[in-house]
Amino acid sequence: MTTLRVAIQKSGRLSDGSRKLIAESGIEVEQIGAQLRSAAYNFPLELLYLRDDDIPEYVADSVVDAAVVGLNIVKEQEREVRVIRGLGFGRCRLSIAVPKAFPYTGLQSLQGSKIATSYPNILGTYLLSQGISAEIQEISGSVEIAPTIGLGDAVCDLVSSGSTLMSNGLVEVQTVLQSEAVLIASPTLSPEKEEILEKFLFRTNAVLRARNTKYITLNTPTEAIPRIVELLPGMKSPSVLPLNLPGWSSLHTVVSEDDFWEIVEKLKQAGAEGILVLPIEKVIE
Ligand code: PRP
Ligand code: ZN
Repeated sequence: MTTLRVAIQKSGRLSDGSRKLIAESGIEVEQIGAQLRSAAYNFPLELLYLRDDDIPEYVADSVVDAAVVGLNIVKEQEREVRVIRGLGFGRCRLSIAVPKAFPYTGLQSLQGSKIATSYPNILGTYLLSQGISAEIQEISGSVEIAPTIGLGDAVCDLVSSGSTLMSNGLVEVQTVLQSEAVLIASPTLSPEKEEILEKFLFRTNAVLRARNTKYITLNTPTEAIPRIVELLPGMKSPSVLPLNLPGWSSLHTVVSEDDFWEIVEKLKQAGAEGILVLPIEKVIE
């Protein structure tokens, strides 16, 4: 039987999010101990746990069929892979940072400087596009300590919370790339594997759509419904049910998490009561 081989990061910033997405997609895998691969019970998928830096190469070479990996790594390595979609987690940015004492007044301040990074390709392309000529010092890890040990005047590294920069006396001055976890796939897959990938994608799409939405139910004077409906950018039109109380109705709809708090305040002002907010597991379109 054909199975889709999907790689995820073995341990690191994307591991938990990747496992969670697969679990919420209803795909059950059991990883025993330090095992490097495991098969799903209820879906034709096999998971491989790899170092993130190795993932694009394995996908390009069809050693694995698809993977969850940071866009930063995909862009840096420029391998031949298909980026299928962003997954909305593992958000971070690749930024240039300088020591606190560096007299930075703009990108021009970096002219002729030495910048330490694990992302020489992305940084090189960026500097070229900005007309900055600087020396790129490639180092594979602990980029943040480079200025202290004389390996660079500045650094270009991933920033998530910013605490690594801060604890090393560095100040972020310029974002070079916004990144998040992405689903990638080999350039060519057999029709059977392509079909499994489609099914996998159908599930993850449903999970990801649901993550950004809440199901809302509320009670409202029937006469206030037009005002309330105007506030609700629902999926289609909201459902309205009569309450066992003359002049009152119950209204059900879906709102995006992003608008959620703002809408709830306005709903109350418009006369809504007993507002319930429920999580949604899947949204199929
Ligand atoms: C990145 C980066 C920093 C840290 C920044 O490393 O190199 O060390 O995360 O995060 P913060 O802003 O929250 O402090 P990562 O854990 O991704 O490891 P890797 O690049 O070696 O895979
Ligand atoms: Zn890594």
